Amino acid sequence: MNKNIAVIILAAGKSTRMKSDIPKVLHPICARPMLGYVLDLVYGLKIKNVIAVLGHRHQDVRKQLKPGIKVVIQKRLAGTADAVKMAMPLLKNFKGTVLVLYADNPLLKKETIRKLLYYHIKNNLDATLLTAKVDKPAGYGRILRDKYASIYGIVEDKDADDFQKDIQEINTGIICFNKDKLAYALRAVRPNNLKKEYYLTDTIGILYKKGCLIDSVTIPDINEALGINSRSELAKANSIMQKRVNEELMQSGITIVDPDSTFIGYGVKIGTDTTIYPFTVIESDVKIGKRCFIGPFVHLREGTRLGDNITAGNFLEIVRSSISSGTFLKHLGYIGDSRIGRNVNIGAGTVVANFDGKKKNTTVINDNAFIGCDTVLVAPVKIGKSARTGAGAVVTKNKNVPDGVTVVGVPARIIKKRE
Ligand code: UD1
Ligand code: CA
Repeated sequence: MNKNIAVIILAAGKSTRMKSDIPKVLHPICARPMLGYVLDLVYGLKIKNVIAVLGHRHQDVRKQLKPGIKVVIQKRLAGTADAVKMAMPLLKNFKGTVLVLYADNPLLKKETIRKLLYYHIKNNLDATLLTAKVDKPAGYGRILRDKYASIYGIVEDKDADDFQKDIQEINTGIICFNKDKLAYALRAVRPNNLKKEYYLTDTIGILYKKGCLIDSVTIPDINEALGINSRSELAKANSIMQKRVNEELMQSGITIVDPDSTFIGYGVKIGTDTTIYPFTVIESDVKIGKRCFIGPFVHLREGTRLGDNITAGNFLEIVRSSISSGTFLKHLGYIGDSRIGRNVNIGAGTVVANFDGKKKNTTVINDNAFIGCDTVLVAPVKIGKSARTGAGAVVTKNKNVPDGVTVVGVPARIIKKRE
């Protein structure tokens, strides 16, 4: 089936309503750019023929695309029909179904798109819309149906009259087209609307007048339809996606004591029987082993790797650091750019001073070391196996502590060598 399907992803838009310099599709949802979710759909459906239409700050957006996706640049943002038109020359020799996806629609599920494609192809339709019934349709295009309940067009919110504004069936923005019919309709679209834009949604009225077959699939989960145009919609999408992420983790055997106050990035890997306490923020690119206790009030940032049986928190930040199994970092502290071995005890208030004002430096703490409360480790520095630091010690730059040795004071000096 997928050989005869091409996808056009529209991602050229500026973020006017977001009031942002950053392209809308790069704003993060669960610590991941919004665009990533739409890309997952096409990878998940194994569709090979994919064209992304980029515009506003396209160099930055392009970095998020994987190889194999073709790119066209829409220089002037003249509307969604214009954007699709830009991609059509790349489909010159293609025959089949064109699926249009909007990159600001991150909550759609793969199964829904699969259902839409299946319905479109099975019934040999010319256009199939993914629609949704919503309580508050403001902002969305409304689906217009004739007295036989056939779809005869879409009216955009800005152009709708009072009667049309009451229509609760909306256009999600996702449409499947027969390619030749799409090409025909695009040529006929005119910017006859308040925004003076070429609307993709006008193709539906054009195809209806031509006697084409138009139908719809209605979305099962209302939350899938959310289009992100503003910061509040971004926050709403984040919270819906967070629920999905947390739910999936719980189903895979992780305890999340209070999902509503636990923020975990998309794609974070956590081993079974780990417990996450409230007010924990875990960003993307973090891996946590089995049987760990994380939180409350812990911030795990990018590049954090935790082994098994680790207790981390309360009140702790870890970034770009790997920590091996059995280590305790139970209260207060900052660990950055560090490699910590097995069964290490990190006392309350330990701080790794990884930044010297110019660059970040590395700290290594070897197996079974004991770091006393309130120790400052000024990087780069190494703490040997089974070495100890006294409470309040400041281990200065490059003053590596050999295996089995105890250091105390400011600056730290050796007081005891172990047998
Ligand atoms: C659009 C639909 C509306 C639907 C809603 C669903 C149109 C005319 N309207 O409205 O019926 O209910 O989505 O969320 O299509 N884009 C470009 N180039 C452009 C303009 C837009 O690539 O010139 C991209 C944007 O980056 C975005 C997508 O197309 O990803 C949709 O554009 P947007 O302006 O957000 O459309 P809506 O007003 O939300
Ligand atoms: Ca939108």
